[in-house]
Amino acid sequence: MAEQKVIRPARNVSGVIRLPGDKSISHRYAMLAAIAEGATRLGNFSTGADCASTLDCLRALGVEWERSESVVTIQGRRRQLQAPTVPLDCGNSGSTMRMLTGILAGQDFSSELVGDPSLSRRPMARVIAPLQAMGAEISAADGTHAPLRITGRNLDAINYKMPVASAQVKSAVLFAGLFAQGETRVEEPVRTRDHGELALRAFGVEVGQRSDGISIVGGQRLQGMEATVPGDLSSAAFFLCAAALFPESQLILNDLGLNPTRSSLLDLLASMGLRISITQLEEHHGELTGTVQVEGGELRGAVIQSPFTEKLIDEIPVLAAIAAYTETGIEIRDARELRVKESDRIAALAANLRAMGADVEERQDGLKIPGKQSLHGTEIDSFGDHRIAMAFAVAALRAEGETVIKGAGAAVVSFPGFFEVLEGVVQR
Ligand code: S3P
Repeated sequence: MAEQKVIRPARNVSGVIRLPGDKSISHRYAMLAAIAEGATRLGNFSTGADCASTLDCLRALGVEWERSESVVTIQGRRRQLQAPTVPLDCGNSGSTMRMLTGILAGQDFSSELVGDPSLSRRPMARVIAPLQAMGAEISAADGTHAPLRITGRNLDAINYKMPVASAQVKSAVLFAGLFAQGETRVEEPVRTRDHGELALRAFGVEVGQRSDGISIVGGQRLQGMEATVPGDLSSAAFFLCAAALFPESQLILNDLGLNPTRSSLLDLLASMGLRISITQLEEHHGELTGTVQVEGGELRGAVIQSPFTEKLIDEIPVLAAIAAYTETGIEIRDARELRVKESDRIAALAANLRAMGADVEERQDGLKIPGKQSLHGTEIDSFGDHRIAMAFAVAALRAEGETVIKGAGAAVVSFPGFFEVLEGVVQR
């Protein structure tokens, strides 16, 4: 993580790229493959350290898998994992910790989940509460922080009205619902990404979807399958926003995930002036993919608020990082959740934007960044957060002078090779 990268200004961002597999989908496919019957073969599996944490935890739970290049083949254990002999290390990955807890709550053994210092600061009560209500025994430091100690058992179904919009929590409860007696129902305050529901169906599980919630009947079997993971739209966001900074940019992204619960960024950037066209639309296991072609234009500003804030939550760092270069600026509201991500992203964004000379208003639940500002290169701190490191590499492309990203190595969490791919499309 100590690694640093120097980014010089660009003329435009042009070329053709294909992103590594979506992180959210890779985690879910791997976890469900582990409890399925038979083998699952996953192409274009996420190359990030977070999904490697999931695979390592699964190995410690007796799951056999092998990886060659970007293909991961997982041998399912028919709903029954093996008691681990070591604590399960989730590294920096909130998705691993929260969603695996859902599965472990239904296993007939005890396990412990640990994480790195950043993950150990993140709130886990949101997943502990519903799983305890289903009958699992879970303890945590201060009731909400890792390490988590889980004693699983046959669970009881619940009707759960989620107080926080979180797709990780929704998936955790649905995964636990597989091991519960009866029908588990989850209602969310705002519709979040539906990869968990689609992944369950891809493994042959029946999942109910009504306007008032998502339901799953316990005891269902999962059947191993084959899939190619769509390119990660949240990783593509850095390239889309980089292209958006220059009217002469022409960028093509192949095989990109376009799930409508994830693709609000494309609508937003189009409304801000980026010209976007989509071809080669395909659907596999309910997940849409396509080729996205973008051309730069003059960038207008935006106000981002609920329910779009929730839908754009992973893209807000890079949107904030380009906000100062837009016509009218970007205001981000209802984004309190950003304070409990891999870093306090509101504070990290404000500090780094100010270091580059921007005028920024930091609020408890958001940021207001006026437009038409010029930024200058300086030393940027990633705060150990992959999305902060990558967001400021993008901001640096239109800054005056060189920008040094300290802690740039954090990018490996979701996108090893990010800086090389960026250099490949930056024109100077
Ligand atoms: C994710 C959901 C979001 C997102 C995270 C991945 C998922 O987190 O920020 O990067 O795969 O379900 P929350 O569930 O905390 O909103």
